[in-house]
Amino acid sequence: MHLAWNDRRTRQFITNVGLITSNGPNGSDIMAAEWTHHISYSPSLIAINVRGRNTTAENIQSSREFGVNLAAADQNIVCSVAGRYSGKETDKISLLKEAGLAVFYAAKSINVLMVQDAAMNAECKLMKQQELGDHIMFVGEVVEISADENIKPLIYHNGRYRQIGEDIPKPSADTLVPIEKLAEKYNRPRG
Ligand SMILES: Cc1cc2nc3c(=O)[nH]c(=O)nc-3n(C[C@H](O)[C@H](O)[C@H](O)COP(=O)(O)O)c2cc1C
Repeated sequence: MHLAWNDRRTRQFITNVGLITSNGPNGSDIMAAEWTHHISYSPSLIAINVRGRNTTAENIQSSREFGVNLAAADQNIVCSVAGRYSGKETDKISLLKEAGLAVFYAAKSINVLMVQDAAMNAECKLMKQQELGDHIMFVGEVVEISADENIKPLIYHNGRYRQIGEDIPKPSADTLVPIEKLAEKYNRPRG
């Protein structure tokens, strides 16, 4: 089936906002990508889904590297700016710097700028790219990573930015006892 952009049934997903930094024929760029996921531990792989017409896609295809900066809860405006303008038309990095909204530093192992004070920073080398529907999935192998657990990530849900709320406790041992009994009852016979 085909779903329109922002179909309300797709708005139940909860994601981070990845601030994807890149460098290439279009110069240094930053975009917002809610479709940013850690998909393997060893090797450590991060997948991002980007529209082919985006400046970021062209930059990654040419340089074969990108930065993944998970937005912190107070970087909501950075996300909106990174998600609003095209890097072909606007130098968003200079804009964000001059507006005092973001500070950038040079990555260690790739030729890309990274966002300071993000919840996590990962430097990625392109491992694979695949056109999937109306986006291109870029899978990057993580070559450097750092994270500050005191910086809470921004949450994106239903087109809105949120912050992490109260914990919901995991089930207690008492709750799990009857479940374990039932699990024994429903264990599949070993063949
Ligand atoms: C919160 C937010 C999340 C977004 N997530 C994505 C995404 O996952 N993939 C995508 O292609 N575009 C996404 N966008 C839109 C891009 O960030 C937008 O098209 C941007 O202008 C592309 O910039 P570029 O042309 O400089 O690469 C998102 C925008 C916002 C505000």
